Amino acid sequence: MIILKSEPEIEKMRKAGALTAQARDYVAGLVRPGITTRELDHAARRFIEERGGIPSFLGYQGYPASICASVNGVVVHGIPGKRVLREGDIISLDLGALLDGYHGDTAITVAVGKISERTRELLEVTQRSLFAGIEQARPGRHLGDISHAVQEVAESAGFSVVVDYVGHGIGREMHEDPQVPNHGPAGRGVLLRRGMVLAIEPMINQGGADVMVHDDGWTVETTDGLPSAHFEHTVAIGDPPEILTAP
Ligand code: MF3
Ligand code: CO
Ligand code: CO
Repeated sequence: MIILKSEPEIEKMRKAGALTAQARDYVAGLVRPGITTRELDHAARRFIEERGGIPSFLGYQGYPASICASVNGVVVHGIPGKRVLREGDIISLDLGALLDGYHGDTAITVAVGKISERTRELLEVTQRSLFAGIEQARPGRHLGDISHAVQEVAESAGFSVVVDYVGHGIGREMHEDPQVPNHGPAGRGVLLRRGMVLAIEPMINQGGADVMVHDDGWTVETTDGLPSAHFEHTVAIGDPPEILTAP
């Protein structure tokens, strides 16, 4: 069941989204060779808590940290730890914050120093696929229009869409209906309408689409070990669409 949000609720989600976006940009700015993913996690937690928010991920289904920090071939749900970032890595940072009863959810993939040309392209195309999806997030369009737009941008650049994980509705819960796949036919699925808020989040692989989950039960990694990128915004359906986690 899709929970529609009233204008006063969307106003609260603007505030949650803004805090989440600020935390994302703050943590992304800390990325450099030599820093550990745990340091990034602690910085994010402190940033969110000092501003009256609660990290959405901490304790979610037993998740042990406040961010997901997914390096290179890790697609999503990388658990922060002792890993030291090195020049040439990429890292996907996914964060959520709960503020005044509503969640924001956003992700960005950043380069650690200089990276390969093809991987630079992967980051650029994944971000562009997110914006192509957001462009469809308007009343009267169908959910499949978002999915199809993402897929088209990613695949026409020769990259693969991860199909095992999807975006989602968001509000009082981090994950609400509907699921928002990153592939599929246009013109199908739920009719979009004002009051819907969606987390749109393409996960795009440089090589094949296959992924596997580590024994920790969380870390999702490409089967071929090639890099993967992830960008995410929380978006209110509108004309134009409203990105609640804009910088
Ligand atoms: N924020 C992720 C998403 O984009 C989900 C993270 S699951 C958690 O939907 F357990 F890490 F919180
Ligand atoms: Co997320
Ligand atoms: Co999400």
